[in-house]
Amino acid sequence: MRKNKRSKQWAKLNLGVRKIAFQLPRALARGRRVVSLALAKIPRTISAKATDWVIVYPDLKAGATKSKIAISHTFLSLLLVAVVFLFQSACTDKNEIPETVTYTEHIALIYYANCDICHRPGGNAHFSLASYEDARKNGGASAYVVKEKIMPPWPADPHYAEFIGQRILSDRDIKVIQKWVAEGMPEGPKDKLAPLPKYPTGSMVSTPDLRIPVPPIFLKANSYDKFLLVKVPFQLPSDTFASLIEFEPGRNNVVHHINGDMVKYDFDKKKNVFAGEQVFPFPWDTTTLMQDFKQMELSNDDGTYPVLQKSVVNYLPGVYGQKYPEGIGGYTLPRKGDFLLNDMHYGFTNKDDIWDSSYINIFFSRTPPSRPLQEFQIGTLSSFGNAPVLPDLIILPNTVKHVYSKFTISKDISIVTINPHMHLLGKSFKAYAVQPNGDTIKLISIPRWDFNWQYFYTFKKMVKVPAGSTIIAEGVYDNTKGNLNNPFSPPQLVTDKNGSMSAKDEMFQFIVSYLPYKEGDENISLETNSTLKGAKGDEDINLETTPPLKGAKGVAPLAPGFPR
Ligand code: HEC
Repeated sequence: MRKNKRSKQWAKLNLGVRKIAFQLPRALARGRRVVSLALAKIPRTISAKATDWVIVYPDLKAGATKSKIAISHTFLSLLLVAVVFLFQSACTDKNEIPETVTYTEHIALIYYANCDICHRPGGNAHFSLASYEDARKNGGASAYVVKEKIMPPWPADPHYAEFIGQRILSDRDIKVIQKWVAEGMPEGPKDKLAPLPKYPTGSMVSTPDLRIPVPPIFLKANSYDKFLLVKVPFQLPSDTFASLIEFEPGRNNVVHHINGDMVKYDFDKKKNVFAGEQVFPFPWDTTTLMQDFKQMELSNDDGTYPVLQKSVVNYLPGVYGQKYPEGIGGYTLPRKGDFLLNDMHYGFTNKDDIWDSSYINIFFSRTPPSRPLQEFQIGTLSSFGNAPVLPDLIILPNTVKHVYSKFTISKDISIVTINPHMHLLGKSFKAYAVQPNGDTIKLISIPRWDFNWQYFYTFKKMVKVPAGSTIIAEGVYDNTKGNLNNPFSPPQLVTDKNGSMSAKDEMFQFIVSYLPYKEGDENISLETNSTLKGAKGDEDINLETTPPLKGAKGVAPLAPGFPR
């Protein structure tokens, strides 16, 4: 009985996966091969703690919309201050547009800071902008994408809410790039060129205590969109704790993203975690999924299923493992376990056959997580079952559809990270909380939804949302042929059938990672420990909290013929 229940639950957890092929708008492809990326996404269902909550779910207060108007006066005065400030800063040297813009004197600095972490040899984009030649070759396209604010990729509006690691080009820098391209992209004096910064390689955080190899994956030349189900087993000398679990891509320009869970065994219930298959093409139906679980030998030896902790490790290009300040977040690691990359996605490869060898990096912690993150989601497959998408997500062809989902919380919470989620018809997304007194707390606004860049947005400081507040997410879908990402031509009926495996579905979700509120949470900076390796210097990173665990093994057999 228990076995059945758990395995069904497991299947359900994986059921929400949607596969969607995506093409960058043709305007962007510019004769280059059309970029095909894809994103499959596991919606998390239930967060254990959240279900303990008393849930109040009254209708929205009438005051809710009024509050927006009430703040407009303050907003106007703030705007005035901002305008004055901008005007003043426009007069300083730093913000002046140079008479002649050159690569060595101006463009290189902008690109080093905003583009080349991805666009460099070995970076996660397919082409480099990290030299004069490369920058010149891609000048026209770059001028276009920065003007349209497609690059650097950061779809959230920084004027609505700010997050850690946001990449935004200033208006001045956008103008400088336009001018440089319009004036024929001069190189400038060679001796003025600052050296390329040392971008981090390997772990983006610091030296991990344990690197567990993901089985090497073979990728054929000129291939597109490979989706895999991958098991990464590990065994430790004892149960322990981790402050961070990080995914480190091997070939980082082909690994598009992963969503990874942790399978936690009771020590006595599983003899050999290393037995069983490790890699399968991602199964898009439950029957195959359950067969794959079987061949992976994921269950306990007696056939029951162990605990599956969702979303312990996620990766998207440009997103780095987030180490929280002492006492926040963290994991309990079992002696025996697996990381289950229930969705490992490779984008397109160039003209050579390659192998990818990625890693899962563990940063141990001496202390158990005192405030582990909790999570709930509203919208499609909402955590509590009572925060559905309204009205139903049925999007008729040739229409633009507005939906929302709302949920009233019964305790004070501190929001840490949020993740809005829609598919290809998504056009815009907004989320905010309306407090019992009618005031609005802004959470996120994505004026132009970008399917490819679905970040987990972490606030610079935790955001307190008091008990009785209603969290509201609003989404707009564009099912017309004007939406260049529309998977159908001509447009067709699209819905969010729960549990359907079809590639043609939509979703509307807002996922919230939070802590029960504690006095002073809103003053704690979450940025302190998130400094990128290299940006601060490894010597500043305190490794004392990370005792090396001798005898840990994470053995993944190498594929035959893998170049060592
Ligand atoms: C977080 C990583 C990241 C950052 C930062 C970034 N890019 Fe990109 N960019 C990508 C990826 C990924 C693509 C998709 C194509 C690929 O894989 O090369 C892309 C695509 C592009 C394209 C379209 C290529 C084409 O013709 O199809 C241009 C142009 C571009 N970026 C310029 C820039 C510029 C200029 C900046 C800085 C102002 C920048 N990018 C910052 C990751 C990044």
